[in-house]
Amino acid sequence: MNLADLNKVAQAMVAPGKGILAADESSGTIKKRFDAINVESTEDNRRDYREMLFRSKEAMTKYISGVILYDETIWQKAKDGTPLVKLIEQAGAIPGIKVDEGTQALPGCPGELVTVGLDKLAERLKKYYEQGARFAKWRAVIDIADGIPSMTAIHVNAHALARYAALCQAAQIVPIVEPEVLMDGDHDIDRCYDVTQRVLNKTFQELRVQRVALEGMILKPNMAISGKKAKTRAGVEEVAEKTVRLLKSCVPAAVPGIAFLSGGQSDEEATAHLDAMNRIGNLPWKLTFSYGRALQAAPQKAWSGKADNVGAGQQAFTHRAQMNGLASKGEWKADLEKKKAA
Ligand code: 13P
Repeated sequence: MNLADLNKVAQAMVAPGKGILAADESSGTIKKRFDAINVESTEDNRRDYREMLFRSKEAMTKYISGVILYDETIWQKAKDGTPLVKLIEQAGAIPGIKVDEGTQALPGCPGELVTVGLDKLAERLKKYYEQGARFAKWRAVIDIADGIPSMTAIHVNAHALARYAALCQAAQIVPIVEPEVLMDGDHDIDRCYDVTQRVLNKTFQELRVQRVALEGMILKPNMAISGKKAKTRAGVEEVAEKTVRLLKSCVPAAVPGIAFLSGGQSDEEATAHLDAMNRIGNLPWKLTFSYGRALQAAPQKAWSGKADNVGAGQQAFTHRAQMNGLASKGEWKADLEKKKAA
């Protein structure tokens, strides 16, 4: 492992004004997104859609530091034969790859999941590196409901995240460590805070045990936020203040950056929260975005599977990327949302 080089990549992933595009939807998830816009999920349509994003020159060069790809995409070529990975590199962004293989039911823990994909991961990482990937992602899922999460679920998922991260660094790939506490329930922000604190503490404990170099990784957490079905939901300032307090208590300063998932927040909420956190300032790590839905919902709708709409899709993507780029510096303003990117 060359830690200086890993650190260089990690720093570039969280460069000021930039963040990560999570375009790594698995086949099942992209089908759901396409169903919502009445587009059939064929290999060509998936390629056309992602090609549209990666050819959004302004968004990709100014606001996107890296793109997380799904296995299918890292091998795909654009319509003119250029590998999609090349399009990303040509825009000055870094290609990354989702390497977990989804979740399975966790035995003995009803309703809870464990992320799988460690078997043969070392060999897969080698091939992904040769294909251009310089960072990877593994997502653990922790749900909040009556009686869960269990210690067991937190432990096994943290252990797997650390195993993955250590294998990535051995393959000279920066691991994005993503322990996602879901916001699907009706819990309040303080319950989310407590659960996330337990999850992050366990995750960093496992990372230490497994000798992962913190300078060569990126953390991708959820924010401290009310559940979607909560009766009253915490406002922007409360989310920002509690998330920063939580992260300061759990995330060592050696971690170069924290890139949040959007997790089902609305586009503007995700931007406003990130912005408010960066306005607090004086943070030991960079705080930016690694959004899937909050970057892509608008371009998906504008595109709707029609070649004629590629320009509109790219404009919608550029707008969201720009708004989040500003938020990563604490320079976003709500009234900018009305003036769409030129
Ligand atoms: P969302 O921003 O849609 O939560 O997706 C980010 C991601 O990569 C989840 O693993």
